[in-house]
Formats: sequence, structure tokens, C-alpha cells
Amino acid sequence: MNEKIMNGRELSSLILNDLKEKVNKLDRNLTLVVISVGDNPASKVYVKQKEKKALEIGYSFTNLHYDEISEEELISEIKSLNADPNVVGMIVQLPLPSYLDKNKILNTISPLKDVDGLTNTNFLRLIKKEECLEPCTPKGVITLLDYYKVPYTKLKVVIVGRSELVGLPLFHMLLNRNATVTLCHSKTMNLKSYTKEADLLIVAVGKPNLITKDMIKEGAILVDVGINRIDNKLCGDIEASCLLKASLMTPVPGGVGPMTVVSLMENVYRAYELGKDNYGKNTESN
Ligand SMILES: NC(=O)c1ccc[n+]([C@@H]2O[C@H](COP(=O)([O-])OP(=O)(O)OC[C@H]3O[C@@H](n4cnc5c(N)ncnc54)[C@H](OP(=O)(O)O)[C@@H]3O)[C@@H](O)[C@H]2O)c1
Repeated sequence: MNEKIMNGRELSSLILNDLKEKVNKLDRNLTLVVISVGDNPASKVYVKQKEKKALEIGYSFTNLHYDEISEEELISEIKSLNADPNVVGMIVQLPLPSYLDKNKILNTISPLKDVDGLTNTNFLRLIKKEECLEPCTPKGVITLLDYYKVPYTKLKVVIVGRSELVGLPLFHMLLNRNATVTLCHSKTMNLKSYTKEADLLIVAVGKPNLITKDMIKEGAILVDVGINRIDNKLCGDIEASCLLKASLMTPVPGGVGPMTVVSLMENVYRAYELGKDNYGKNTESN
């Protein structure tokens, strides 16, 4: 059964080792800053994971954590990080408390330091196939598909979920790579009629076992982005038994999750390269 698994943990550690070598050769420190606000327990785990990987590669890592901060103060903090030449990349850990305007805050980040790829500028550049920092989860999915030589240009691709974080950018990234993609969401009528036709099915919804065995095609390639917790155990959006019918599938955990973190680490290096070419410009936000 193992030959059916797309192992994100294994691939991410190969990429991490390559990055480590590149970073070791540099004559300067690359600093990643993660800004977090509030006390979301999942966010704390994700920030720790990012710190661990960043330090493993040889980046400097700073977590600016605020139990509470006003929007004005947060924006002013981001602007000073935009202007700080030691900071190569920064992210604002999501979700933010609801009293903060997420879009306004994210779009204060300089697009050249936006290593989560979530600013409007980077999204527009992505759609227009221009040089940009791509969002980490879709980037990780594509890296995984490429590594396993999934011929997505020749396949019927269906994505379930159209969030700005995952489904929507992934749709554009696959389209830009000449895949033919259908994007489904919560208002899609008869979801099964789409999933059943998919040669490559990518699910990013956040509903445990939304996709069941009867909803997939024999031999389908399945990518499960979902991370759900049931009785303290992690599971995806795709029922585990679908592996029996699939030709390839990502596990949860150990599939897309590690690819997301390593894609962030790749973006930090890319931001360094972009910053080198754009000194003087990287102090501006959108
Ligand atoms: N592995 C990773 O590294 C990673 C990274 C990011 C996210 N995730 C996980 O991926 C999942 C999705 O994250 P997200 O940020 O994209 O979530 P999100 O912002 O809540 O978006 C969920 C999407 O699913 C759609 N949806 C909801 N119920 C549906 C249904 N019954 N049928 C079809 N579509 C449905 C929604 O449709 P509408 O647009 O119509 O509301 C929306 O587009 C979560 O489990 C999250 O934890 C994992």
C-alpha cells in the first residue's frame, strides 16, 4: 500500500536539506519574523513548527507575540519591519482576533517580504503569471505533485474548497500550468457528480470525511489538505478507506502539512533573492 502514499514528510526533509546547504553558504543572516496575536492554541503549535524548521535551516527566527494589540500599533510594527533590512520575510499568523481587519493588516506587509504570499499584490501577480511569492499550501501541493510526476495537464482536476488561502490560489496555479480545473465549494450542487469524475481530486474544506469512497473514481489521485481533530486525533477531509480505490493519496498527517511549512522556508530564501534585486523598494507595502 505504501507505494500509493505521497509522502510529504519525506519530500519536505529533502527540500529542507537543500535549503540548509544554500543558507549555510550565505554571508548574512536571514531573519523570518512571525507576528501572532491572541491565544489560539493551534496557532501556537504552528508557530513552534515554523520556528523549529527555520532554526534547522539556519535562519534567524523571531516571534513577536501580542496578547492584544491595537490595529494602529500592529500596522506601525509591520511598517517598521518592512523597513528593517535584517528582516527578509514576515508573516502574520492567522487567524487574527476578529477586532483586527485581516485584509488591511496583511496588505501592510511589503509584497517582497510577504512569505505567506497573501497580499493582494502577490495574488494579482500570481494570477497574471508574474514573479511573486506564492502561498505556501498551494505551492507545497504543486511541489508534491511534481515530485510524484502527477501529469496534471492530462488529467481532469477537481478542487473542493475556494478559500483565499488554499483553493483559489491553487486553482490559478494549476491553470497557469495548463491543467484543466474545476473549482467546487459549499454552494456546488451535487458535489459527488464532480468528485466522481476527477482523475486528480484536491480537497481543502475542513470537514472530516467529507469525501467518501463512493464519491471518487477508481484509480483517482487524492490530495487531502484538510486538517481536522477528532478525539485528539488528526484526520483529513477524505475518508481513509479511499486509499483502497486511489492510485496515489496524501496521508494526514504527513502529507500536505509538512509541505506547507517547507514551502514557507523556500519562500524566505526566495524573498532574500527578490530583496537583493529590489533594495530600496522593499520598504513599501501594497
Ligand atoms: N495542510 C496544511 O498545511 C493546511 C493549510 C491550510 C489549511 N489547511 C486545512 O485545510 C482545510 C481548509 O482550510 P481553508 O483555510 O481553505 O478553509 P476555509 O477558509 O474555511 O474554506 C473552506 C472552503 O471549503 C468550502 N466548503 C465548506 N463546506 C463545503 C462542503 N460541504 N462542500 C464543498 N465545499 C465546502 C467553502 O466553501 P464556500 O467558499 O462556499 O464557503 C470554502 O471555500 C482546513 O481543514 C484547514 O485546517 C491545511
